[in-house]
Amino acid sequence: MEQKSPFYSRPQSEGRIYFIETFGCQMNVRDSETAAGLLETLGFYRGTDKENADLILFNTCCVRDHAEKRVFGNIGALKELKDENPNLIIGVFGCMMQQQEVAEKLYKRFPFVDIVFGTNLLSRLPAFVESAESGSRTLAVDEQNIQIEDDLPSIRTGKINAFVNINYGCDNFCTYCIVPYVRGRERSREMAAIAEEAKTLVDEGYSEITLLGQNVNSYGKDLKDASFAKLLALISKVEGLERIRFMTSHPKDLTDEMIDAMASLSNVCHHVHLPMQSGSNEILKQMNRKYTRELYLKIVEKLHAAMPDVELTTDIIVGFPGETEEDFLQTLDLVERVGFASAFTFKYSPRKGTRAATMEEQVPDIVKRERLHRLNELQEQKSRENNEKYIGVTGIVHIEDCDTRHDPVCYGKFPNFKMVYFAGTPDLVGSYVPVQITNVRKNSLFGRIAETEETSI
Ligand code: SAH
Ligand code: SF4
Ligand code: F3S
Repeated sequence: MEQKSPFYSRPQSEGRIYFIETFGCQMNVRDSETAAGLLETLGFYRGTDKENADLILFNTCCVRDHAEKRVFGNIGALKELKDENPNLIIGVFGCMMQQQEVAEKLYKRFPFVDIVFGTNLLSRLPAFVESAESGSRTLAVDEQNIQIEDDLPSIRTGKINAFVNINYGCDNFCTYCIVPYVRGRERSREMAAIAEEAKTLVDEGYSEITLLGQNVNSYGKDLKDASFAKLLALISKVEGLERIRFMTSHPKDLTDEMIDAMASLSNVCHHVHLPMQSGSNEILKQMNRKYTRELYLKIVEKLHAAMPDVELTTDIIVGFPGETEEDFLQTLDLVERVGFASAFTFKYSPRKGTRAATMEEQVPDIVKRERLHRLNELQEQKSRENNEKYIGVTGIVHIEDCDTRHDPVCYGKFPNFKMVYFAGTPDLVGSYVPVQITNVRKNSLFGRIAETEETSI
């Protein structure tokens, strides 16, 4: 079971250095890995900070206003570096730059930014860098859907887990969400190409992967004879792959076949990130989520019945337009009933161009803030309760890293995504060890290396 990390640092003594800062979701993390691959083919080396870089790239997100403000603030702060080093190349790309208007605004506001381009044009990064080297600026946004090329070089950044795209874009048009506008229509990669990539990753030393998509479980609807369950079955056969994770799942596409596949394939992890968004049927309808609280609960029941050790995590929005106190209480009630291991909770943030942004009855910020606070308090309590059940439990941890600043503490996850901390040494990183839980805190489990490989989850 012993597996060593394939992560290593590259020599930085010669050549130019790049630094990429990534905002947003795993999709952006994966795109940054591709950007890194493209830059390394140009002869750049990865650096660890902006101060020493010859090229700085920002990969942006626009899913909420907060993400957008941070990007503008961070880019503004780069002016000083550019003044010190006029040869420094600065580029901004990603979802936020896929919006023509915003890309133009940024391009005008920050004349020291050399390259601005949308997500769709990632494969042209080398040409943009070459233009910048010869002194010209680039502003390039292509609003057409472009099939993202599968075979671009990339440099993985995950130490023990590698991201693998399975479908791009999103067709769901939840009324609050900008993603379908900046990521285009849903396109699935061929099953064989994904399996091939998984094999290559095992050859490179990875034994754990995460399949990525905005809605992984609608995978294959644009292909012949493909589905997410079939994909799981195919990937699970890849020799040397110990753990297969995936995110994000949409409740409306969570089929019985998918549950069967998860329960029966031994290397598919028992964790589902299943955004519920709201517990009120009226708000779910206004959000265009295409499920009810009853259906959501039914799925949760089925998942638990098929996999007693399954853990669920979720995303929740408070203060969607028209959300009443009664609607919000329904959200609290669903959180209470489901018992998520953890939840990402957000205040609704109007996004230009989406349907919800023009809805009447926008909820005042003070109300959103108060609801978010109440929701977080409940989730904290639920997380703690959920953790209690792990006392005495032994499970296999895939060790991600080891913090050696004080007494060395290793950490990694059980198959069902629960993070575990325990005393261990850095040489263990990348290996699988049995750990027995001895005590718990709000968000984490603490344990010690178990003498037996006999596990209870
Ligand atoms: N494809 C995934 C996640 C997309 S974005 C899914 O379908 O669930 C991640 C999360 O951001 C969403 O689940 C949602 O909870 C949140 N989100 C998206 N748009 C938002 C907005 N306008 N305001 C607040 N939260 C938002
Ligand atoms: Fe956005 Fe909905 Fe698509 Fe998720 S499923 S990316 S929330 S539109
Ligand atoms: Fe943000 Fe784009 Fe992801 S908008 S959440 S980085 S798909």
